Amino acid sequence: MVVDLALFEQNLKRMAEQSKATGINVRPHVKIHKSVDVAKQQIARGGIGLTCATIAEAELMCGAGIQHVLWTKQPASVNNIARAVALSKRDSTFMFVVDDPTVLSWVEEAAAAENARVRLAVSVFAGMNRQGVENGQPAVELAQRVASSKRATLEGFMAYSGGAAHTKGWETRRKKSEEDLAGARETVALAKKSGLPVNIVSGGSTGTYNIDHANGLTELEAGSYVFMDTNYFAIGGKDDSETYSDFKGALTVLTTIDSKRHANQATIDYGNKAMLRTTDKVKGMPWIQVTPQGAEYGGLVWKDGDRDLKIGERVEIYCSNLDTSTNCYDRYFVAKGDQIVDVWPIMGRSGAAQR
Ligand SMILES: Cc1ncc(COP(=O)(O)O)c(C=O)c1O
Repeated sequence: MVVDLALFEQNLKRMAEQSKATGINVRPHVKIHKSVDVAKQQIARGGIGLTCATIAEAELMCGAGIQHVLWTKQPASVNNIARAVALSKRDSTFMFVVDDPTVLSWVEEAAAAENARVRLAVSVFAGMNRQGVENGQPAVELAQRVASSKRATLEGFMAYSGGAAHTKGWETRRKKSEEDLAGARETVALAKKSGLPVNIVSGGSTGTYNIDHANGLTELEAGSYVFMDTNYFAIGGKDDSETYSDFKGALTVLTTIDSKRHANQATIDYGNKAMLRTTDKVKGMPWIQVTPQGAEYGGLVWKDGDRDLKIGERVEIYCSNLDTSTNCYDRYFVAKGDQIVDVWPIMGRSGAAQR
């Protein structure tokens, strides 16, 4: 995997400028890159902490000395609860979410047994069925329980509208996010009215980075903007309805054409194990289609009249989905022009760390 340093830095700058202009904070999501080196640069560019998908990612980032890490999934196993409590003890700025009073009770018991305190945000429904307590009274009641707990501090709310993130067309996306977050806005208003502290309302994505400051969020959990993938290119932007070009494709997989026996097609060393998807795209050659072939083989096809490719030629491929693709690699090779200037390990990938 190759990171184009200039484009990566451009992406960081763009997000920082948006944050400054609109006043919305950024707590970048690390699940798309799983790298301490990338995370540190996001913090250096104004990130107020980090967002993580797994307790293992949170342990990795806190262990690297990064504070204000938010874990966006509630712990429901003995293992995850114990680790969340232990991490809270080690780093009092670490926080995680709950959407269920039963889980809150389990967390309180575990914290009491360790004489620990935890910092919690209440996860509320934001258009996605996978998590989030019902907005309004149920959400406020759960927040009140957190706020009155001897073992917890209420940090605020999380409302992640995953459906809005990849909605095509900027105006349609804006409307979708506005609707998805309507319930959360009502909850926050009710909570404030009842005297509850609401330090954060976290949510949003790369797709809604220039939308959600107007939708009641205080901070963005955007992740993909640092590298971008083809799923995101396809959603269209405010100024370009076809391609989402606010952020640049800064990550590619460098492959080699290792067989070229037939017209208008070539075989590359980029197979299913490298997360080949038919929606992947070749950098600088939009006319080429990527086709699945096998574990270690990928295919490229193009039409008559398109530029031909030669055996041994290198092509760089943009991934369809960063989360899963970056999980297949051990390190990023960082390029300045055609020079590799650094190597960043992908410490949070795969295996035990993800459980
Ligand atoms: C909880 C959560 N927050 C935020 C995001 C946004 O990340 P991205 O900017 O990569 O779409 C995701 C992505 O799936 C997510 O699961």
